[in-house]
Amino acid sequence: MSKITIVGAGDVGATLAYTLQIEGRATEIVLVDERTVTAHGHALDMNHGQFFTPPVRIRAGSLQDAAGSDLWVIAAGTRQRTRETRLDLTRRNAEICSSIVQRARPWLGDARVLVVSNPVDVMTYTVWSESGLPRHRVFGSGTVLDSARFRYELSRWCDVDPRNVHAYVAGEHGDSEVFLWSRVHVAGNPLGDFCRHCRKNCGPQERQSVEQRVRDSAYHIIEAKGYTNYGVSLAVSRMIGAVLRDEKSVFTASAVLDGEYGLHEVSLSVPCVLGAAGVHRIVETELPAEESQQLDRSAHVVRSAIHSVDEARHRAHPRAA
Ligand SMILES: NC(=O)c1ccc[n+]([C@@H]2O[C@H](COP(=O)([O-])OP(=O)(O)OC[C@H]3O[C@@H](n4cnc5c(N)ncnc54)[C@H](O)[C@@H]3O)[C@@H](O)[C@H]2O)c1
Repeated sequence: MSKITIVGAGDVGATLAYTLQIEGRATEIVLVDERTVTAHGHALDMNHGQFFTPPVRIRAGSLQDAAGSDLWVIAAGTRQRTRETRLDLTRRNAEICSSIVQRARPWLGDARVLVVSNPVDVMTYTVWSESGLPRHRVFGSGTVLDSARFRYELSRWCDVDPRNVHAYVAGEHGDSEVFLWSRVHVAGNPLGDFCRHCRKNCGPQERQSVEQRVRDSAYHIIEAKGYTNYGVSLAVSRMIGAVLRDEKSVFTASAVLDGEYGLHEVSLSVPCVLGAAGVHRIVETELPAEESQQLDRSAHVVRSAIHSVDEARHRAHPRAA
């Protein structure tokens, strides 16, 4: 039995529910959205597919109906418009995420909370601090999708299946994200070894072009269709599977850091082992100086946005802060 609640049944939340249904990851899915009619519509539409999928009870409901969930996903809020960065959404979505968590607190029980709303690192920190939950139980989708995009782009350059490429993007799920080239492995070989036996002779330009394509991919998709939904839903569904099945799989989830990689008071993507506890363990590794400095810079960008949320809250509720 696994009950999953998705708060925010927009393009991401609804596609995630559909992905979970097809992949048979849940026995019950509750869709919570302030647009209740739309949420009911999505639930009915998906329920009509029950004949073709593993059994799952899908319904629209309230935060109270979410009680007893094994996992909550927060995918509510506004999304980027063309030429907007994820950080542009900070103020609006922090208010939405804070208010959801304040109202959800009585029903959270011992659930894990997976944050998807952008800017996801800032929202993960907001949800964690607002919820009062231990940090291992709150984490964000972070750069899991960026790492998948990185693998996809490398797989095309190297002409191998993305599943035979190991590559991580760490840091902010945003413009300051960090490509951990020092950790890239293709077919079990460090990238340098793999390249030595390849005739393509890729150099720094190819690396830059891979980074650019990964970094800009959300902008291109949003320009083309207005939103992103499939890649992120597959990524989040996979993370949910790792938690529900206690897989201890490694993802670049956004985790609240308390000294790991020398970073504090920030939520940021680093390799995390996900299992039944949520973030079972943060994998620490010695990074080359350049990547380590980039990670510090990325943490600074996210921390500044977290502080701007705190300041806004302080101005709005001087006593509460
Ligand atoms: N982390 C990632 O990799 C990633 C990828 C894609 C999108 N996103 C983010 O996910 C979020 C959702 O994107 P989308 O495309 O589904 O947007 P959307 O506009 O289609 O859906 C958002 C939904 O949230 C609902 N909502 C707003 N406030 C609410 C509240 N207080 N309670 C309940 N529901 C509320 C809206 O009614 C709407 O249905 C955005 O912030 C977007 O930037 C993150």
